Amino acid sequence: MSKENLRFNSKAIHGGQEPDKAYGAVMPPIYQTSTYAQSSPGAHKGFEYSRSANPTRTALENSLASIENGKYGLAFASGLAAIDAVMKLLQPGDEVISTNDLYGGSYRLFSKIFEGFGIKFHFVNMENPAVIENYINTNTRLIWVETPTNPMMNIIDIAQVANIAKKHKVLLGVDNTFATPYLQLPLDLGADLVMHSATKYMGGHSDVVMGALVVKNKDLADKLYFIQNASGAVAGPMDCFLVLRGIKTLHVRMQRHCENGAAIAKFLADHPKIEKVYWPGFKSHPNHEIAKKQMKGFGGMISFVTKGNNYQEAIKIVENLKVFTLAESLGGVESLAGHPASMTHASIPKEEREKTGVVDALIRLSVGIEDVEDLIDDLRRAIG
Ligand SMILES: Cc1ncc(COP(=O)(O)O)c(C=O)c1O
Repeated sequence: MSKENLRFNSKAIHGGQEPDKAYGAVMPPIYQTSTYAQSSPGAHKGFEYSRSANPTRTALENSLASIENGKYGLAFASGLAAIDAVMKLLQPGDEVISTNDLYGGSYRLFSKIFEGFGIKFHFVNMENPAVIENYINTNTRLIWVETPTNPMMNIIDIAQVANIAKKHKVLLGVDNTFATPYLQLPLDLGADLVMHSATKYMGGHSDVVMGALVVKNKDLADKLYFIQNASGAVAGPMDCFLVLRGIKTLHVRMQRHCENGAAIAKFLADHPKIEKVYWPGFKSHPNHEIAKKQMKGFGGMISFVTKGNNYQEAIKIVENLKVFTLAESLGGVESLAGHPASMTHASIPKEEREKTGVVDALIRLSVGIEDVEDLIDDLRRAIG
């Protein structure tokens, strides 16, 4: 039975994996080496230099390809390094159409680095994908989609965007960080390329910073492998080991993230002091039907706003939390809370951030896998 025909949970554990060739180790060893002995120039066992390839990284890259239903995986030093590699497929004069409320670091990379190299970006609200066609011209090379978006949890219809991308022969890349392949498989929906901040759910334990790309097409994979080696922002062997270990429990963690997320979203929605809860599992969420169609569950990321939209009150709530940790990042086993207006989105002028919904009292939760009653008690106490 081919390991590639396994179901998702089995692939998370076995996909692309084989016992280590040296001693049969079930978990690939951490090959903490920069180079490999050659018996004669060019005569080696498949590895020459660890920027080009390293056995621990290869084991992870094969796992990534398997769980995303792709063929080729690439691991990078961070999520942004992975996006940086995608942008290096482009030339000056090329144009990109990107989700408008995407992760701030991706926006910074596009607007502050690649715009300076002559690439033009259109930041577009993609909730109605038909709008994308208004921005397509002969220079358009790439559509970049993040769904669900951070921190407003908007959902973009990947299959519809893929149809538009195919019609105009442009690449479609999807940042799958929030959903993970457990919930959403962009390549199956027609995307050309999937990207992850593996720092988040893939690693899952808040102990590593890493990025990943997965593609199906060999030509595209070859170009990206060339960039990975030529630019050199590769993931180290220890980090690859940690993320590979994380992936082996991705399905059980995600199942619990979803269960706890649903319970907390409902608790918040029923709370008299809460004005609004952003979570795609609610029927009232504007993109709920698309979320239901393209995702297997609704995840553990939730944003909410308190009544009165008071900045200081929101700060007090996040300070009062005891089980949730006030911190950047998301996707780990432990619950985290963030205040976008003073943290991740502080550099965006108030009028600008409020246009996308990032108001003063918005709080973002990354719901972990603790006992949900403890998380709810913590929120109840902190909200008061
Ligand atoms: C959706 C999304 N994409 C990309 C990134 C960037 O990844 P990294 O921090 O691993 O560079 C992040 C980080 O928060 C993110 O949330």
